[in-house]
Amino acid sequence: MGFLGKRYGVIATTWLLFMVVGSVSGIGANWGNQATHPLPPAIVVNMLRANGIQKVKLFDAESATLTALRGSGIEVMVGIPNEMLYTLANSVDAAERWVAKNVSAHISSNSVNIKSEDRDYVESQQPKEHTGLVTSLNLERYVAVGNEPFLPTYNGSFLGTTFPALQNIQAALIKAGLGNQVKVTVPLNADVYQSSTSLPSTGDFRPDIHDLMLEIVKFLNDNGAAFTVNIYPFISLYNDPNFPADYAFFDRYSSPINDNGRIYENVFDANHDTLVWALQKYGYGSMSIIVGEIGWPTDGDRSANVQFAQRFNQGFMSHVGKGTPMRPVPIDAYMFSLIDEDAKSIQPGNFERHWGIFYYDGTPKYNLSLGSNSGGLVPASNVRYLPRRWCILSPGANVDDAQVGPSVSYACAHADCTELGYGTSCGNLNAQGNISYAFNSYYQQNNQLQSACQFPNLSVITTSDPSVGSCRFNIMIQTTSANGLAGSAGFSHTPTSMLLFVFKAEFGLALGINRIMFNLDLMGTIEVKFVLPEIAYTQGYQGPRF
Ligand SMILES: *[C@@H]1O[C@H](CO)[C@@H](O)[C@H](O)[C@H]1NC(C)=O
Ligand SMILES: *[C@@H]1O[C@H](CO)[C@@H](O)[C@H](O)[C@H]1NC(C)=O
Ligand SMILES: *[C@@H]1O[C@H](CO)[C@@H](O)[C@H](O)[C@H]1NC(C)=O
Ligand SMILES: *[C@@H]1O[C@H](CO)[C@@H](O)[C@H](O)[C@H]1NC(C)=O
Ligand SMILES: *[C@@H]1O[C@H](CO)[C@@H](O)[C@H](O)[C@H]1NC(C)=O
Repeated sequence: MGFLGKRYGVIATTWLLFMVVGSVSGIGANWGNQATHPLPPAIVVNMLRANGIQKVKLFDAESATLTALRGSGIEVMVGIPNEMLYTLANSVDAAERWVAKNVSAHISSNSVNIKSEDRDYVESQQPKEHTGLVTSLNLERYVAVGNEPFLPTYNGSFLGTTFPALQNIQAALIKAGLGNQVKVTVPLNADVYQSSTSLPSTGDFRPDIHDLMLEIVKFLNDNGAAFTVNIYPFISLYNDPNFPADYAFFDRYSSPINDNGRIYENVFDANHDTLVWALQKYGYGSMSIIVGEIGWPTDGDRSANVQFAQRFNQGFMSHVGKGTPMRPVPIDAYMFSLIDEDAKSIQPGNFERHWGIFYYDGTPKYNLSLGSNSGGLVPASNVRYLPRRWCILSPGANVDDAQVGPSVSYACAHADCTELGYGTSCGNLNAQGNISYAFNSYYQQNNQLQSACQFPNLSVITTSDPSVGSCRFNIMIQTTSANGLAGSAGFSHTPTSMLLFVFKAEFGLALGINRIMFNLDLMGTIEVKFVLPEIAYTQGYQGPRF
């Protein structure tokens, strides 16, 4: 952790919290790390606390993250990636090792009251006894087994392993003496249930996984665990141009749906209650439900923007305490998501990298009151940036130069151009702007290496900010984990090795960047050779997550 942990520790000494086991109220947040330059965990933990966010949901159990959360009093749902389900399903031993390493090692096991007391937590690695209370290392309360494993895009890959893995993890938790303290769950997409009519009251589980769902629901219920569902009104709007936009939000919908006297004014409630009815149909009408992911992206699609995201998320915050017509009680929910992740797969759409309520650097995107922070979101502090410089198209370069197309497609394929396109934050750039955006994205993701701004006779480094209007030309942050690269790149470090890249690009490229982005092997190709640095990312990408 180095200096960051130290700095955080100083703040932690002034902080005192008592907590009783039991779910923390208030909104939670999903904290993913599929980013080329994730913010250091200690900075994120401070940001969570500054914003009064008392629970987080993770997609793995990275020890750096869990270490940063130690003693913070923040409740944690740790995750098991889908790729681990096969192993955990087939080996009781592997499940026990997973629990020992990723749960037991991080929490105190024998406490009823969990107390995090006044101390420099950086120095404190072991639980200590204090007047019968046990010092909290971590408030791990849930293990999320898999992540939306039954999505049709997975072609059934996880149908056979999710339930056995769930059973093995539950058994391992009980064996470790944590059965009462830590619950299992499986975050599922809302597509695991459906309704034969437009009404929630005809809700049932999806036919192809119906029996499996009933087994899982029974198992969760028998173990006092919750059903976790991810609900996405944005996707309703994205998938169906005729979807009534106002029904996606929590205000202004003029034609509510009447389900036998229950009035539905927003699709979230209708979706949630379809699940309630499906559960009720099989005798689980009082089972707890956790909304594992809820949110709205801000870029990458015409329906993904700051105004809609603010309206949706603030609307949800006003709604979360009221609940739904079938469950008019506070909803236990985790926002999706905390911070943008620029290395996520864009298979679901270009919006996928823009779900954060914060940008990649911990800057708030819009005003959002989470209840405790009426003054709006508090930005991350102590974030270290690379120097203020950008890579752009040389003023003298010709946009019709034959090298432009291949250069842009190379940059976009290796960096992030999801802010370009119709209705996006950089959708109004001219041709020069488009090219510069792509070049800069590549340059920043490569930690401003000089050689990452050497598109043949096309690019130049500038110190004047090319951002225009809503279109931000980012400056990358320094990360401690980028193998020393980030730390040195900003300070006149020049790479010694350059690699000759040979790749194929579409013939006669236009500047429609999206069209060519991941389309480099089309028929009718030319070979283009030029020199670009190869940068091996040392962390970040972990395969698709939807
Ligand atoms: C603990 O979790 C991490 C992160 O998800 C994973 O890489 C590791 O394999 C897990 N440890 C064990 C012993 O399963
Ligand atoms: C699912 O199956 C389709 C069609 O067979 C295939 O194109 C696709 O790559 C498969 N996806 C996965 C994740 O296996
Ligand atoms: C947030 O709201 C405050 C006042 O309510 C306003 O001054 C500020 O400009 C707003 N910030 C953003 C990012 O909209
Ligand atoms: C810039 O790129 C966007 C996204 O690919 C495209 O829609 C637009 O037409 C481009 N603009 C110009 C002037 O080439
Ligand atoms: C760059 O421009 C110079 C002078 O116009 C030319 O000789 C050279 O071949 C160009 N390089 C590339 C890679 O296009």
